[in-house]
Amino acid sequence: MAKLQPVRGTRDITGEEARRQRYVVDVFRRVAEAYGFDEIATPIFEFTEVFKRTLGETSDVVAKEMYTFTDRSGDEITLRPEYTAGIARAWMTQGLAQQGVAKLYGWGPMFRHERPQKGRYRQFSQINVEVIGAPEPAADIELIAMARQVLDDLGIADQTVLHLNTLGDPESRAAYRQALVTYLNGHRDRLSKDSQARLARNPMRILDSKDEGDRVIVAEAPKMANYLNPASREFFDTVRRGLDALGIPYREDHALVRGLDYYTHTAFEFITETLGAQGTVLGGGRYDGLMEQLGGPATPGVGWAGGIERIAMMLSALPESVRGATMVPLGAPAQEKALVLARDLRAKGLRIDTDYRGSLKKRMARANRRNARYAIIIGEEELAAGTATVRDLDSGGQTAVAFDALASHIGPQI
Ligand code: HAM
Repeated sequence: MAKLQPVRGTRDITGEEARRQRYVVDVFRRVAEAYGFDEIATPIFEFTEVFKRTLGETSDVVAKEMYTFTDRSGDEITLRPEYTAGIARAWMTQGLAQQGVAKLYGWGPMFRHERPQKGRYRQFSQINVEVIGAPEPAADIELIAMARQVLDDLGIADQTVLHLNTLGDPESRAAYRQALVTYLNGHRDRLSKDSQARLARNPMRILDSKDEGDRVIVAEAPKMANYLNPASREFFDTVRRGLDALGIPYREDHALVRGLDYYTHTAFEFITETLGAQGTVLGGGRYDGLMEQLGGPATPGVGWAGGIERIAMMLSALPESVRGATMVPLGAPAQEKALVLARDLRAKGLRIDTDYRGSLKKRMARANRRNARYAIIIGEEELAAGTATVRDLDSGGQTAVAFDALASHIGPQI
């Protein structure tokens, strides 16, 4: 029997942290709706093929981080490590292609068997958006603007820097890859062990190696920008012009390659220095070849995902939450009345907490602990008089309020 603890890299989310995460999702949803996106929720597990075919066999995620198992039907299943592949699968199986460009948003848990540390978990949550079916750079621009808007509305955009790169189209990328491999092979002996292994499998990832020695070599490496064909260059120029027109600041980052293999053209990340090692708050880009890798028709796509935990950690203060009132009935008849009154007050949109047992003192302590604004006390006397004793928990003052006047008495304050 496993120890009675959460599994390493997983956490229970309660209280203030739950409120923070909820707030991130609320703001995200509002912005996504404002941008005309529709909601999608895909299953948290898919056939393993969905991820293997799209994320790249050599990506860290597929090579060593997936939660994969054979289920009782003998199917090879993987808990989703990211959203994009599942959404692409849904787009195909739902026949969404008929509807033209799909603009989709969603959020939820993802699973990666990584080494846990601050801001890095084995179950974490993402907010995620995708635009499928639009080859135009305007989609990339608008998606980046949308990401910036989410961070702005959460009050944390200033703590981030937008890093931008292009990986070009497959032709440009292949040309670059070759130049890079030739260069890195010349310095092979001085590369770290990890990077030497990557040289054959996934040389572009060496560009974002954290190893000091690698970085010295990478600093002199050929740059993608010099290997773009005219179409890829024009695409990137349009994206940059669009961001300039929208007044969105960015930093060009030739070493930004992203961890998943499906990217083409635009790649971007919002990075912060406030979170320590796990500074990538949100990242994404274009993935024009992904749908074909899944066995579907050639279909362009672009999107991003933000880590809810990381974003939530960056928030300074949440907007004040509704404090509400707590019902404090004393005795069985009062309890019954309290149930009815609480239901009616809630129906008017008020937040009413109730308690089920304990002395007046204990209940008042609980109401205070839960930061209620009022305690609505109902004992035998109150029942007989048809009034509740409403205690203002900030001032300590008490007022007798007729049952049917409760909503108008406390409503404006909570
Ligand atoms: P990603 O860069 O792998 O991209 O993940 C996006 C964000 O998820 C990261 O920037 C980070 O904030 C968060 N994240 C990733 N792994 C962890 C973890 N182990 N613990 C906590 N947070 C984490 C994608 O997933 C792509 N599907 C994004 C995309 C959508 N590209 C196109 N469309």
